This record gives sequence, structure tokens and C-alpha cells, in this order.
Amino acid sequence: MGKRVYESLPDLKEARKRSRKPSLIEENRPVPEKVARFAEGRTYLVKTFGCQANVRDEEILSGYLEKAGFAKAKSEEEANLVIINTCAVRENAEEKVYGEIGKFKKNHKADKDFILGVCGCMMQEEGVAKKLMASYPYINLIFGTHNLPDILDLLDEHLSRGKDIVNVKSFAGDVVENLPSTRLDAHRAYVNITYGCDKFCTYCIVPYTRGRERSRPLKDILKECQALYEEGYQEVTLLGQNVNSYGKDLGEGIDFATCLEEVAKIGIPRVRFMTSHPWDFNERMIEVIAKYPNIMKCIHLPVQSGSSEILRLMGRRYSRESYLALVKKIRERIPGVALTTDIIVGFPNESEEQFEETVSLCEEVRYDSAFTFLYSPRKGTPAAKMVDNVTSEEKHERYNRLLAVTEKTTEEASARLLGQSVPVLVDGPSKKDPHILSGYTEGMKLVNFPGPSYLAGEIVPVLIKENHVHFLIGALAEDPLLLKAKSLQGAMKKDPILKEYLSLSKQIEEDEGLKELRKKIESAQRGMMAASSDDEDYQAKKKEYLSLKGEYESHPLVKNAESLHDEAESLLQEIAGALS
Ligand code: SAH
Ligand code: SF4
Ligand code: F3S
Repeated sequence: MGKRVYESLPDLKEARKRSRKPSLIEENRPVPEKVARFAEGRTYLVKTFGCQANVRDEEILSGYLEKAGFAKAKSEEEANLVIINTCAVRENAEEKVYGEIGKFKKNHKADKDFILGVCGCMMQEEGVAKKLMASYPYINLIFGTHNLPDILDLLDEHLSRGKDIVNVKSFAGDVVENLPSTRLDAHRAYVNITYGCDKFCTYCIVPYTRGRERSRPLKDILKECQALYEEGYQEVTLLGQNVNSYGKDLGEGIDFATCLEEVAKIGIPRVRFMTSHPWDFNERMIEVIAKYPNIMKCIHLPVQSGSSEILRLMGRRYSRESYLALVKKIRERIPGVALTTDIIVGFPNESEEQFEETVSLCEEVRYDSAFTFLYSPRKGTPAAKMVDNVTSEEKHERYNRLLAVTEKTTEEASARLLGQSVPVLVDGPSKKDPHILSGYTEGMKLVNFPGPSYLAGEIVPVLIKENHVHFLIGALAEDPLLLKAKSLQGAMKKDPILKEYLSLSKQIEEDEGLKELRKKIESAQRGMMAASSDDEDYQAKKKEYLSLKGEYESHPLVKNAESLHDEAESLLQEIAGALS
């Protein structure tokens, strides 16, 4: 490929600004012709690192690429277009990306039209795009988190100009609705409710890579969730860097509690949300979580540190005491709630005493699980400028000490489930053994148990038998066939098309006029069969029969039922397929 074109590069100063108002854009651009022609018969692959926001971005990228005509590749070797979707949150997340890029050099050799793209949070960092283009001349496309919906235009430009394109925007991003999407999971779905982050914790790169905090309109969130419900999704997770800031920027008086409540009312069996910031976790949120049985009693509440002084330096806006008071309130009002957290060990100048405060906080809260990270300086963040007096050995030693405590509380939380029958949403058969199913409990504990693959996507009762700390082993508490039958019966009763079809059939059955007509049709049919076909009488009987039949079929009830017939039939076939 020829020369590269730097159309725009990231600028952290620009990324920090919060003055530009985001626009609400409706996606309705057609697929550029050149891209559609290129996509025909070609395959793509997106390789994602990082958090759920990136996973959802992969689904949107896949949606665009499939809309253009690309099919999903079965292997890395076969793919004609690969996009690496990166994460910048810690140094080690970035290191993985460099190794990944190198793997695709050989694809260019095998396929002269191969396209390698790199996108995501890392591209939003200053200097990264230039460095990548210099070290990996076989990258064809670099774009950031804000222009992800422009993927097809960027591809078009690359194909039309025959040049490698670098285009990373540093403005605070817009809200784009009507995004194409190819979901990666058939039973669990992520739904973005906010983008970006305005908290600017001093260690964190996310507010720079994801831009200003902006909420999606509630009606669009509800429309997406309603559609997922109708497609049979069992679980949605509402996503945002700070879900509890939802709505603040909309100025419509709608907050996260309202959003969560409205989503819960749709009736999706499991509703989750992440991440909650302890600072603006309010009473109404607790009330709503407690009130709706389909809101999972599982809250990810990152504490980051147990020391109020470190929390102040981190810019977290809560103290050890206020965090513990919040935990107490949550535990009182939502009995049995599972609490999980994120912790950073080794923030600059963290003293032994301050670290001990994190240990004692974990001992007090007794988290169901904790994700512990070693602090990683991120260029451009305030914490990265702090001079640090703690050695790396000390940090590693503290990390291991804390891990021993959090492992213990995780083990305890898992042990509480032993001997209980708990609902598990089945993801599907395990990769290692097709006879073993795996899924998650309400509190996000992974459970493995023997069972048939047709239970994938069902919420089934599982008796917990063994505690392996990070996963549990159990056994189905009911006959799997009966469980599936009950679920199908429930689904059939709920399906709006089947419901309407069954109600129309009943009305057709009971309508007096139609009953009379049916009798007449039967008698005309008998008359027709009795006469011989070359007989004059036969022709008269046939005429009568056809006219009665015409009258019957044009009755509004019969016509309505007929218009639903094909859809109802394919639904039943789908259901039958689920069991085979
Ligand atoms: N918005 C979410 C997720 C942020 S990233 C939140 O506020 O919780 C996920 C986790 O990565 C954070 O909770 C934090 O524990 C960790 N993290 C962020 N920046 C980090 C850094 N520079 N070094 C180490 N861990 C970091
Ligand atoms: Fe990062 Fe803090 Fe925002 Fe979470 S709340 S994304 S840790 S700045
Ligand atoms: Fe990583 Fe970006 Fe998520 S930095 S954690 S992928 S928001």
C-alpha cells in the first residue's frame, strides 16, 4: 500500500475539554459502493481487549461490517480484514496489543488486499498512532473511539485513495443512535446507557480515551431493551463508566434509578448494571434495586483504596467512612446482595499504613469478588506526574498480601451457596467437555454442572455441591426435559404472534356465523363427492362449494389468522429446533 495519510491525531488537552456539546445523530448512511464491492466474498475479524464498553464496540463494528457484506471469518488466517480493538487502562493491556498486531503481518503476504485496522482506547493516547505506524508499516487503518461509526467511510477512503489512513478524533464524542450491531451472545446482552466519563480520577485514562460523559435518550435505551426482550434475551447489562450519573447531562429530570426501573419493567428476567461509582449511589437506586426481583442483587462498587487520604489523591470524592456507610445501607436494604469491587495497589507514595487500611476495609466488607490491579502510570494523567517512593517489590508484595484476603472472602461467599439450589443462567456447554454446562448465578458466580446442551439460554435451578473459589460445581435440581418443556410453554404463552393467533383461532371456533358456514362447506363438499365429475350437478355443487369457501376465507377473523399463519408456523419450527 502507498503512503499513509495522517488526517487527525489525538491531543490529550483537547480530550480533557468538556465544552463541546455532543450531538444526537441518527445513523442512516448507506454503505459506500466501493466497500460493498470489496466486502463481497470477503471475511472480517475483530479482536477485542479491555472492558465491556469495548466488547459492545466490537458488536457495533461487526454490525457495520456485516451490513457492508463481510462475513465473519472462522480463523485469523482466513480473515481478509482484521480490526484490533485496544484498551489503554494499564500498561500490560497495551503490551498484549503489540504482540497481537505482529501476528497479522503474514496475512498481508498471503493476501495482497488484506486490511489491518487498529482502533479503541489506545489510539486515543498521544503518540501511540504515530509509533504504531512507524513500527508496523503493515497497519492500514487507525481510528479512535469517537469515529468508530465512520468505519465504512474510513474503509472507503482507504480503498479509493490507496493509502493507509490515520484518523483519531479528540473531541468529546456524540451520541449515535440506530447503530448496526451483531451481538456476540444469544442470551446475554450489553446495552450502553452512557458513554465517556467526567470523573477524572487522577490515575485514569478513560475520561481522555472515551471523552465527555453523555447519556443516551431513555426512549432509545428502552427501545433497544424491548427488542432484546422480544428476541428472547434473558439478561441485559446496562453499561456506563458511571451508570449512576445517567441522565445528568440530559436535563430532563431523568436519573439512573428511573432508567433502571423502566428497563426492569419490560420484564427481561435478569437486569444488571455496571459500573456504579460510590460517590453518586443514591437512596432511590437502592430502593429500585431492592424492589424488582429481576434486577440482580449484585453490585460492582469499585473502592480503589481503603485509605481516605489515598482516595483524596485519587480524586474519588468519597472517604473510607462514607464508602463503608454506603455498604452498610446497601446490605441492610438489599439482604443477600453480592458486592464486588476494583482495587488499585501501589498508588504513588501509598504508605504501609494506607495499604493496611485497604486490607482492613476488605476484611470488613468481605467482597464476593475483588479485581485487584497494580497501579500503572498513564501518560497525561495527574497521578503519572507524582514522584513515587514505593519500590516495585514492595508493591508486588502488598498485591499478594491483599490477594490472600480477597481470595478468602471470595471463598466464603462461594461457600454460602453450598447445599443450596440456585438459579443459573446457562451460557452453554463448556469448551472442554460438551456434557458440562456452565453459567452464572445471580451474584455472578460461575457454576459448572452436567446437563444437555438444549438448556443453553435457560435459567435453571442448580444444587451447589463443590466450592472451587472462582467457580462452583453443581447438579441440575430438576429433570432437564421438564425444565425445557416448562420454558417452551412459557415462551409460547408470552409470544405476541402466537398469542394473537391462538386468540383468533378460538374466536373462529366460537363465531356462530362461521360455524354455520363451516357446516355448509362440509355439506357442499359431501354433495360434490357424491356426484360424478362429468355430471352437471357436480359443476353446480362445485360452484356452491367454492363460493362458500370464498365467503369463509374473506371473513375478517379468518383473514387475520391467515396473515399470521406463516410467522406462527416458523416460530413453532424454531421452538422445535431448540429441542433437537
Ligand atoms: N469506570 C469504571 C471502570 C474503570 S477501569 C470505574 O470507575 O470503576 C476499571 C478499573 O481499572 C478501575 O476500577 C481501576 O481499578 C482500574 N484502573 C484504572 N486506571 C488504572 C491505572 N492507571 N492503574 C491500575 N489500575 C487502574
Ligand atoms: Fe476512570 Fe474514575 Fe471514570 Fe472510572 S470513574 S472511568 S476510574 S475516571
Ligand atoms: Fe480499557 Fe477503554 Fe475500557 S481504556 S477499560 S477499553 S474504556
